[in-house]
Amino acid sequence: MEWTSKKIRETFLDFYKRKDHQIVASAPMVVKNDPTLMFVNAGMNQFKEYFLGDSEPKNVRVSDTQKCLRVSGKHNDLEEVGVDTYHHTMFEMLGNWSFGDYFKKEAIEWAWELLTEVYKLDKDRIYISVFAGDKNDNLELDGESKEIWKGLIDETRILECDRKDNFWEMGETGPCGPCSEIHVDLRSEEERAQIDGKSLVNEDHPQVVEIWNLVFIQYNRKANGELVDLPNKHIDTGMGFERLAMALQNKKSNYDTDIFMPLINKVVSISGKTYGATDSKQDVAIRVIADHVRAISFSIADGQLPSNIGAGYVIRRILRRAIRYGYSFLALNEPFVNKLVEVLVAEMGGQFPEIKLQQSLITKVILEEEESFLRTLEKGISRFENYAAKNQDKNIDGKFAFELYDTFGFPIDLTELLASEKGLHVDMQEFLNCLQQQKDRSRAATIIKTDDW
Ligand code: SER
Repeated sequence: MEWTSKKIRETFLDFYKRKDHQIVASAPMVVKNDPTLMFVNAGMNQFKEYFLGDSEPKNVRVSDTQKCLRVSGKHNDLEEVGVDTYHHTMFEMLGNWSFGDYFKKEAIEWAWELLTEVYKLDKDRIYISVFAGDKNDNLELDGESKEIWKGLIDETRILECDRKDNFWEMGETGPCGPCSEIHVDLRSEEERAQIDGKSLVNEDHPQVVEIWNLVFIQYNRKANGELVDLPNKHIDTGMGFERLAMALQNKKSNYDTDIFMPLINKVVSISGKTYGATDSKQDVAIRVIADHVRAISFSIADGQLPSNIGAGYVIRRILRRAIRYGYSFLALNEPFVNKLVEVLVAEMGGQFPEIKLQQSLITKVILEEEESFLRTLEKGISRFENYAAKNQDKNIDGKFAFELYDTFGFPIDLTELLASEKGLHVDMQEFLNCLQQQKDRSRAATIIKTDDW
């Protein structure tokens, strides 16, 4: 069978429907009613109050695909995006939940059944991790999960990992618990023969990746750091849809799946560049753009316009990052991101009608942002030209580079590129000092204390 992304998504939801789950819609990605979050960073966010026992769910078994954005707060993947091949700003998380109903046994056995009997992933390429325990929190090894897994997979394929990887928390406070992760090894047979996949689990290998996290929610982390038992035990699972597609479509990168290729092909046709050739910066730029247009478009569809504060500023920065990469590495100096919206709507409008309904607004907002930011970039370039004409001492002052960065949104690599074209260097040490000072200032200004929810 050909596992198109559409088929993968439908199969997941259908599987849990048959296990008596109610299929619900994704919550909007922009969070308006939780002071601890700007964007939805996990499928469980919309169910937080059920875990805490603050309200009663209509159905104790639920499943969905949730739009998530990990660009701020505890879960922030922005710097990896585009540089590697398996992190995203916005991604879909396929999940199933039990609110005080089934627990570890069903969650684990069903995940295994779906992966190996329905999707038919090769069992020999799967590794499992369970929580090893933690002295500080006074928690022991999750022996129960390990025993359940031992009934399904050879014990040698089970790893015990510490809290960094196997204790999931939504944020600094809130529902949490030990988790068990499912990893797949997508390397070639030759590579697998040389290095044991087990040693590459949780080592940031692009083809040995976590695809599914099964969380056993049983505590609430209070603002003082203390763990308190919740009234009930719950299941919260999240599978990376794009990574699963990479595995089922036999690709080496999420971007090579049918989720991203239509967007990549469009960037290639607009820019006249190639993807997957030798210029890695060009490839990174194409990936950055294909990724970012999704995050920006869905945020706008969910009601968050780019702006200068809070969540709007995060969206503006993501959009500017896409424009800058296009400008610097693909020679795109006319608005282009807005032209990708049409492709995105054609690919995702079926599952997420909000993007179709808002298509013209999204396109217009992106176009306006692009026009204004490209003008800013031009002003910055002319300032750079003036500076370089006056200072021919082979060094671009780090403070000046920082001003370009801070006021004109100039990425430092663009300044370096302009400098090198004139045979000049940027004083990077001074630039980094200025950057650090700014980070310290903004960290001090944005520490928001939230009480227990
Ligand atoms: N909450 C867990 C995660 O985001 C599982 O859904 O990984």
